Amino acid sequence: MINGSKKYIITTWGCQMNEHDSEKMSGILETLGYISTDIKEEADLIIFNTCLVRENAELKVYGNLGELKALKRHNPDLIIAICGCMMQKKEIRDIIKEKYKFVDIIFGTHNIHKLPELIANHNQHTRMIIDVWEDAGNIVEGMPAKRKYGFKAFVNIMYGCNNFCSYCIVPYTRGREKSREPEDILSEIRELANEGCKEITLLGQNVNSYGKTLTSKMSFAQLLYLINEIEGIERIRFMTSHPKDLSDELIYTIRDCHKVCEHIHLPFQAGSNRILKHMNRKYTKEQYLDLVKKIKSEIPNISLTTDIIVGFPGETEEDFMDTIDVVKKSEFDSAFTFIYSIREGTPAANMENQIPEDIKHRRLKTLLDTLNPISHDKNLQYLNTIQEVLVEETSKTDSTVLSGRTRTSKLVHFKGDKDLIGKIVKVKIDNTKTWTLEGMLIDG
Ligand code: 5AD
Ligand code: SF4
Repeated sequence: MINGSKKYIITTWGCQMNEHDSEKMSGILETLGYISTDIKEEADLIIFNTCLVRENAELKVYGNLGELKALKRHNPDLIIAICGCMMQKKEIRDIIKEKYKFVDIIFGTHNIHKLPELIANHNQHTRMIIDVWEDAGNIVEGMPAKRKYGFKAFVNIMYGCNNFCSYCIVPYTRGREKSREPEDILSEIRELANEGCKEITLLGQNVNSYGKTLTSKMSFAQLLYLINEIEGIERIRFMTSHPKDLSDELIYTIRDCHKVCEHIHLPFQAGSNRILKHMNRKYTKEQYLDLVKKIKSEIPNISLTTDIIVGFPGETEEDFMDTIDVVKKSEFDSAFTFIYSIREGTPAANMENQIPEDIKHRRLKTLLDTLNPISHDKNLQYLNTIQEVLVEETSKTDSTVLSGRTRTSKLVHFKGDKDLIGKIVKVKIDNTKTWTLEGMLIDG
C-alpha cells in the first residue's frame, strides 16, 4: 500500500500553536492514507502553514510560494494549499488570488478539520477553493495528531486571545479566547501517557486565564493539579503566561506539583510604564519586577524566559533604558528579542512616532549585549550539578552525542547510546556555554 500512497509536505512558520496545528494536519492526512516526504518533487500535496506575527515571517511565505510555481508546472496534479494566520486576512487572500493563481486551496486557522473535504472538493473542481472562517465556533475535538516525538507532546488547553496588545495581530487571526473542557484535555493526556508520552507542553496564548470561558469555572492551577495525577506523565510544561494573570495560586502550584517543571516563559515586552500602557499590557514595570521577585523566592531554581520588543512606536532612549533595567534586575535565563514590526490592522500600526530602522537595530544590539552575559552566568550556575535530562535526539554532526532538556528547559549535550532517546537520565554538567550545557551521563 505504501508504494501507492500519496505524499505530502507541510512547511510551518511561527509559534508552537502553528507547529501543533501542523501535527494535527499530518494526523488527518495520514488517516486519509497520505505519507510524509521531504522531497518536494515527489509530493502530491504541499501545505504552507503561515504566520503573520511579524513582517519577515510573512515575506518568507511569499518567497517560498514563488518556488512552488515551477514544481506545479512539472507536476500539474500537485495540490498546493495555504493555511494559518496569514490566510485569516482578506487583503492577503486577495494577493494570493491575484498573484499566485496556481494555489489550489486556502483555508484558515479555525477549520483545519475540514482538510479532507477541501482536498476531495479540489479533485472535482479546478478553481482555487477558499474556505476561511472568521470565528472558531465550537472547539472541534478528537482530531488525530501525528506528533514529532512519541515521548513529548503539545496539548492545546485553549485557543485565541482576548488581550489585544496593541502591536499584536494574534487576536485577529486566532479569534477570541476559548478554553477546552478539562475532561477533553485530561483524556487526551491520559491517552498520550498510555502511548508512552512522558512530557507534555500545555499550549495557549495566555494559559493563566484558562477556564474563564467554561460553564464550570476552573483555574489553570486547578487544571495542573489534575494533570499532575496522571500516571506515566513525568513532566508538565506550559506556555505562554501573561504577567497580569499569573496568580499566587499558580506560583504555589508550580512549587508544589512535582511534575510541573521549573520554567516560566513570562513575556514582559517593554520596561517603560508609558510604553506598557500604549502596548495595552495592563501591568507596570514595578508590578512585573515584584512578580519576578515573588516567583524567585518561592521557586529558587526557577528558569525564567521572556519576550522583549524594541522600537515600539514612540519609544525614547529613556524608555528603552527601562527595558534594559528590567533585563538586569530579572536575570532571565534567555529571551526572544524582537524588533517592532508594523502589523496592519493593529492599533500600534497607526501610532505616530514610528522608530527608524537604524535605531531599532542599535537598541536590539544593546539589548543582546545585556542579555547574553546574563544567560552565560545563569548557565555557569549549573556547573558540577546533576541534572535530570529527557533525551531527545542524537546530534546531527556526531551520532554518539545525545541532546536533551533539563526540567528548566536547558539544552544539554552528552555522550551516550541512542537507545536512551525518550528516557529520563541523570547528567553531570561539566561545561557550560551561553546557550547550552555539556555533561557526562552518570545513570542510564
Ligand atoms: N512586532 C514585534 N514583535 C511582536 N510580537 C508580537 N507582535 C509583534 C510585532 N508586531 C512578539 C511579542 C510576542 C511574541 C510571540 O512575538 O514579543 O510575545
Ligand atoms: Fe498577542 Fe498579547 Fe495575546 Fe500574546 S497576550 S497573543 S502578545 S495579544
